[in-house]
Amino acid sequence: MPEISNTTETSYADGKILRHATGGVGVITFNNPDKRNAMSLEMWEGFGEALTSLRDDAAVRVVILRGAGGKAFVSGADISQFEKTRHNAAASAEYAKRSAAQRVLLADYPKPTIASIQGFCLGGGMQVAMLADIRIAAHASQFGIPAARLGIAYGYDGLRHLVSLVGPSWARLLMYTGMRIDSAEALRIGLVERVVPDDQLWGETMAIAQGISENAPLAIKAAKLTIAEVLKDEGQRDMDAIKAIGNACMDSADFREGRQAFMEKRKPQFQGR
Ligand code: COA
Repeated sequence: MPEISNTTETSYADGKILRHATGGVGVITFNNPDKRNAMSLEMWEGFGEALTSLRDDAAVRVVILRGAGGKAFVSGADISQFEKTRHNAAASAEYAKRSAAQRVLLADYPKPTIASIQGFCLGGGMQVAMLADIRIAAHASQFGIPAARLGIAYGYDGLRHLVSLVGPSWARLLMYTGMRIDSAEALRIGLVERVVPDDQLWGETMAIAQGISENAPLAIKAAKLTIAEVLKDEGQRDMDAIKAIGNACMDSADFREGRQAFMEKRKPQFQGR
């Protein structure tokens, strides 16, 4: 796993979730490589804590999600916990509530997020990756949702994102068969945005994250918010929020800085206000 320089590490869920922040870029690492980073409930909750802490860190402008060990991003929920926590509808409702609460944090995240995917990205791992704003994958990655092989339903939110990324036909093919696809196919169907050689994944992800972290935070927030509204049904869209953030951008010190920096042929220094 590439080291992250100039940073302190904070760990959650007994070290199975790690959090770093460096130069405006926050990183959350799923760190359970012996189980291909399968997510236990404790990891879901630790993931939520890490997301919250990076959300509330004013210096962090973009968050990368990645898996440790080189073999997996996340191989899904930890199936060994299912017998105890997810064996029937009642138990499953409690499980879903506790894990879904963390995914809501990611779905509503105010900062841009990037999934940096190397190796297996399966089931609940796909859900995490699809909730991120951008997906960059290494060549050797594999993607799939084996819910039909286990006998579980994938749920509305996961399927909504799958359908919006790859369309209903590919969603059906993936869900009915539980098949795994490689990174070339994932790229072709729109599941990931970019595929790079394995040894370039981290450099490429960091370059994109750093580029985002140097841009105007309010303008990025406006893009993120507006794209989320575009994806809603027409009647549900909050056009006032879009207008408000547009006005906030136009009145911002950063817009002034952006104009001045352009005219003075220098790099802008944005403050997020
Ligand atoms: N939950 C619990 N344990 C998991 C896991 C999961 N989702 N995915 C992998 N593991 C464990 C394996 O049981 C194995 O444990 P062991 O060493 O104690 O036997 C270890 O991780 C390594 O997995 P293994 O299958 O030997 O590695 P592999 O590289 O050949 O295959 C996977 C990796 C991810 C393709 C395979 O483990 C797999 O199909 N996992 C289940 C994926 C899944 O169904 N996810 C959806 C859950 S909703």
